[in-house]
Amino acid sequence: MKFLVILIVWAALGHSAEAPVSNATCRSVPGSPGYPRQAEWDALNATVSGRLVAVVPSAKFCASLPGGACTDDQWESAVFRSNIPGAMDQVNWEQGYDLNPPSLCLRNTTSTCGQGDVPLYSVEAETVADIQAAVKFSSTHNLRLVIKSSGHDYLGRSTAPSSLLIRTHNLQNISFSDSFFTGSTDMGAAVTLGSGAYTNALYAQGKAEGKIVVGASAATVCAAGGWVQGAGHSALAPTLGLGADNALGECPNFRIVVANGDLLKVNQEWHPDLFYALRGGGAGSWGVLVSATFKTYPTFNVTSSVLLFGASNTTVAASLALIHAQHIFDWDSVHAGQYFYLEENLNASTSDTTAFVFSVNTIMPKTTVNQSQALLAPFLEAALALPGVSLLSQEFDYGDANDALFQADDSVGDNAVLGSRLIPAATYRDSPATVGKVYEKLLETGAPAILGLLVAGGKVAENANISSAVHPAWRTAKAHVIVIAEWDDSASLAEINQKRHLFQNIQAPILDELIPGSGDSIGSYSNEADVLERNFQTTFFGPNYARLSEIKRTYDPQDLFIVGAGVGSERWDEWGLCRL
Ligand SMILES: Cc1cc2nc3c(=O)[nH]c(=O)nc-3n(C[C@H](O)[C@H](O)[C@H](O)COP(=O)(O)OP(=O)(O)OC[C@H]3O[C@@H](n4cnc5c(N)ncnc54)[C@H](O)[C@@H]3O)c2cc1C
Ligand SMILES: *[C@@H]1O[C@H](CO)[C@@H](O)[C@H](O)[C@H]1NC(C)=O
Ligand SMILES: *[C@@H]1O[C@H](CO)[C@@H](O)[C@H](O)[C@H]1NC(C)=O
Ligand SMILES: *[C@@H]1O[C@H](CO)[C@@H](O)[C@H](O)[C@H]1NC(C)=O
Ligand SMILES: *[C@@H]1O[C@H](CO)[C@@H](O)[C@H](O)[C@H]1NC(C)=O
Ligand SMILES: *[C@@H]1O[C@H](CO)[C@@H](O)[C@H](O)[C@H]1NC(C)=O
Ligand SMILES: *[C@@H]1O[C@H](CO)[C@@H](O)[C@H](O)[C@H]1NC(C)=O
Ligand SMILES: *[C@@H]1O[C@H](CO)[C@@H](O)[C@H](O)[C@H]1NC(C)=O
Ligand SMILES: *[C@@H]1O[C@H](CO)[C@@H](O)[C@H](O)[C@H]1NC(C)=O
Ligand SMILES: *[C@@H]1O[C@H](CO)[C@@H](O)[C@H](O)[C@H]1NC(C)=O
Repeated sequence: MKFLVILIVWAALGHSAEAPVSNATCRSVPGSPGYPRQAEWDALNATVSGRLVAVVPSAKFCASLPGGACTDDQWESAVFRSNIPGAMDQVNWEQGYDLNPPSLCLRNTTSTCGQGDVPLYSVEAETVADIQAAVKFSSTHNLRLVIKSSGHDYLGRSTAPSSLLIRTHNLQNISFSDSFFTGSTDMGAAVTLGSGAYTNALYAQGKAEGKIVVGASAATVCAAGGWVQGAGHSALAPTLGLGADNALGECPNFRIVVANGDLLKVNQEWHPDLFYALRGGGAGSWGVLVSATFKTYPTFNVTSSVLLFGASNTTVAASLALIHAQHIFDWDSVHAGQYFYLEENLNASTSDTTAFVFSVNTIMPKTTVNQSQALLAPFLEAALALPGVSLLSQEFDYGDANDALFQADDSVGDNAVLGSRLIPAATYRDSPATVGKVYEKLLETGAPAILGLLVAGGKVAENANISSAVHPAWRTAKAHVIVIAEWDDSASLAEINQKRHLFQNIQAPILDELIPGSGDSIGSYSNEADVLERNFQTTFFGPNYARLSEIKRTYDPQDLFIVGAGVGSERWDEWGLCRL
């Protein structure tokens, strides 16, 4: 009797219908012969306990609310948007600009609302079995499958048209332990995170536990989602290494549902090839992560400071960037992490001395306010000696690292694309003047912001010999530099396409001037980058691409998990719908 029940469950999970997945040229979409019938969707819904939902663009969701719209606060809140399965945080990724005809759903114009690049259905997963059912259903029916935890992705990799979404937002478990055991061996303090757990929950709970974990400078980034798969940088990385470096090698680190529906436990002994790929090999290409386990450390205090400068024009802003480059090693003795953001001040009048704002946010572990002020003083003095530079404000706070890194929400809801490069330490050391020149050229292309992140060096460099898929450019880098392009909903499609291609056409060659050597030495952080990057294989994955392709073939031979500019994506069109 029991045997019979097991057999029935086995069949319900799709094992009986294990017809080999076809190598069809295209995924099934509504209207194509193999697309699931309503009864089949209903059966999937029953299998996942009613957690299959129809997905709509965020603008359409807002229009369905009482009052017919989202407030600005709601629209721009990552926490609010996490209640909307179809929402991306950068809303341009919901738009089907390249579909024929384009399919858009813009805020407050829902009378002409298209589905765009938003999935059709989502399994709002709460259990491993939900994920397995959705993976099986996708491969049986040859569907385009996408995975999302927060929807933060800057390359649009967590959405695709005509797709089935698996959303892991509800897997929010966070469990700290002083001693993780592998057999009888104590591996020390660690935390296991569900793939939907937010970074701010990690800091809030870390504080209560007296622990600190290497994590993002963000509220809702999912450490056990895309973050760790890309590498995972942090203000604490110069002190403690990258997120991927802190993924525990011993206990069953990653739990992941792979393309054949199996739940695998992955660490340096079990599926070591997948363990290698999940640390830097790119988000969304390997399977659906259920959880990941990271090292924890006893927490410590940091001094967190913000210096806010005004710069009167482009030339002055570039000179300020040069002064900063000359001083970027000043804080190495305390392994500081720092965000140095140059932004055009859209509020400034033409005569204003603050045409640009340069904010320098520094986290110095185990450093008092006075020590921190002393370490920043030479940079501050040199900056203020420049004609046209003014200090708008300065603030220093001392306290628990968890408090310094905690953010309640992320401000999102705009149209934005990025492009980026990892800038070698040698460039800052040997030719800081080039940094100034490159900033000036980038500003002349109309870049409204150049974001610099001092999240490498120190422990990131010391970890060079860890065997993982982290791009080796991380190990010799000093900073990660990002340029942003943004547009309003009122922009024409021609203007939007100009912005979408600005990085690859014009800005990438300018940033490349900061990287000596051949094309092979050019590296970029795959999580904060341009999905249109021409040589993404080397730029995002460096010499690791061949091995990653091999691992992809082993665990995902039918390319179920394809994302833009991810491993294997060269075989697919931009939507992952048809093989090329
Ligand atoms: C406000 C903000 C701040 C940021 N700060 C940092 C920072 O400090 N450090 C840093 O390194 N990065 C930072 N990022 C970039 C961040 O790492 C990437 O956006 C990353 O892709 C987010 O992963 P996610 O899972 O939260 O996002 P999602 O958009 O949900 O997913 C991103 C990618 O991961 C895949 N994915 C998501 N969930 C799973 C899962 N369960 N299993 C398998 N694949 C999955 C998706 O398919 C997609 O390819 C920031 C981004 C934003 C918007
Ligand atoms: C699909 O293609 C792969 C690789 O070419 C091949 O190994 C496999 O047998 C094919 N499967 C089917 C069902 O044709
Ligand atoms: C799935 O089932 C639930 C509960 O039975 C129902 O509310 C929901 O509408 C169904 N989803 C779809 C896409 O039909
Ligand atoms: C959309 O409508 C909301 C609520 O009426 C309003 O606050 C917001 O400014 C509008 N936004 C746009 C882009 O029209
Ligand atoms: C969540 O963590 C607790 C321990 O803190 C554990 O008992 C429980 O099984 C976990 N739940 C899931 C779904 O992993
Ligand atoms: C610009 O002005 C708005 C409204 O007064 C304000 O909220 C915003 O912070 C200002 N931005 C800058 C960069 O000063
Ligand atoms: C910190 O510096 C200020 C002046 O800059 C000084 O007055 C104060 O005594 C210093 N505090 C400590 C603890 O050194
Ligand atoms: C930029 O500002 C500086 C300092 O105020 C000034 O000397 C210089 O002439 C300005 N340059 C331009 C191009 O306006
Ligand atoms: C850390 O900072 C807090 C808040 O300022 C303070 O109360 C505490 O004593 C500090 N701890 C250490 C070890 O310095
Ligand atoms: C990595 O290993 C090589 C070879 O053993 C060694 O020469 C090098 O110094 C190591 N690098 C680091 C950063 O430890």
